[in-house]
Amino acid sequence: MSHTPDTDPPASAPALLPGEVPARLDEAVDWAAGVLAGAGVHFGHGADNPHTEAIILLAGATGLSLEVLMADAARPLAPPVRAQLAALLTERLSSRRPAAYLVGRAWFAGLEFEVDERVLVPRSPLAEFLAAGGAPWLDPARVRRVLDLGTGSGCLAIAAAMAFPEARVDAADLSSDALAVAAANVRRHGLETRVHLVLSDHFAALAGERYDLILSNPPYVPAARLAELPPEYGHEPAMALVSGEDGLDSVRAILQDAGLFLRPGGILVVEVGEVEEAVARAWPHLPLTWLEFEHGGSGVFLLEAESLPPPREP
Ligand SMILES: C[S@@+](CC[C@H](N)C(=O)[O-])C[C@H]1O[C@@H](n2cnc3c(N)ncnc32)[C@H](O)[C@@H]1O
Repeated sequence: MSHTPDTDPPASAPALLPGEVPARLDEAVDWAAGVLAGAGVHFGHGADNPHTEAIILLAGATGLSLEVLMADAARPLAPPVRAQLAALLTERLSSRRPAAYLVGRAWFAGLEFEVDERVLVPRSPLAEFLAAGGAPWLDPARVRRVLDLGTGSGCLAIAAAMAFPEARVDAADLSSDALAVAAANVRRHGLETRVHLVLSDHFAALAGERYDLILSNPPYVPAARLAELPPEYGHEPAMALVSGEDGLDSVRAILQDAGLFLRPGGILVVEVGEVEEAVARAWPHLPLTWLEFEHGGSGVFLLEAESLPPPREP
């Protein structure tokens, strides 16, 4: 959902912003970053600092790719582009909508995705696991079937298809709205023959399938905690965040049935973020391996098929 005013507004910044938007790209980025840093907004929806977020807003204002923006610091900005930046920044501060929704784009795992309020803004540390080809647990050349459970924008499924070139990836979600966004992203990356979208309540529509890798970034926020989160989270779909009173409903469903859907030697990798300790307490007998990430993030466990609870009878 890009921000495109019908007429060219003036290049001067609206009252909420200090002064004029600078006419040179790098100066405009610094100026916007300064405004964001002083505004008390929350970072963490695809940008973890004001400078990155300013570049994302510039990408929205110019329509240019991040690569072009980063390589062309001295690019002059025409008055309509500067007005557009001012409008995006004003909306970011007043509505607290994440920048990714304002510009309709998000960058994840080195790839660009279309996003809007139907999907979570991509940010999972699982990108790093996929960038490493699942090492040391997986040999990318031997991974044939992957499931991304709760695919949202399709970001993890698409990054998995790139990481495992021989694999067919099933990307499941209970939200048909999210699957519409995922479909656009699968087309955008030309992966229609390898990434298959499935409307499914957890494993319900996947009977008979077996995977080498099941990946999931499920909802895991305890219901009462949602109201305590910064306003940015209120713009994301509640079903992408909340999972029952203790945040563990989705993890419970995944642990209960994953054993039935993994091949021998397969692995389950699940992000549970800030409920890591609650998960460790709830399943004390499971040999969970908590992954470590060089580029930030935590709360991701890995389980081998052989360690999963025995599957329920279907
Ligand atoms: C935290 S978001 C993750 C989205 C995406 N994988 C990512 O990392 O950005 C969780 C996703 O799980 C989906 N979901 C919630 N409950 C589900 C269920 N019972 N079965 C399948 N998907 C579900 C939501 O619609 C949402 O898209």
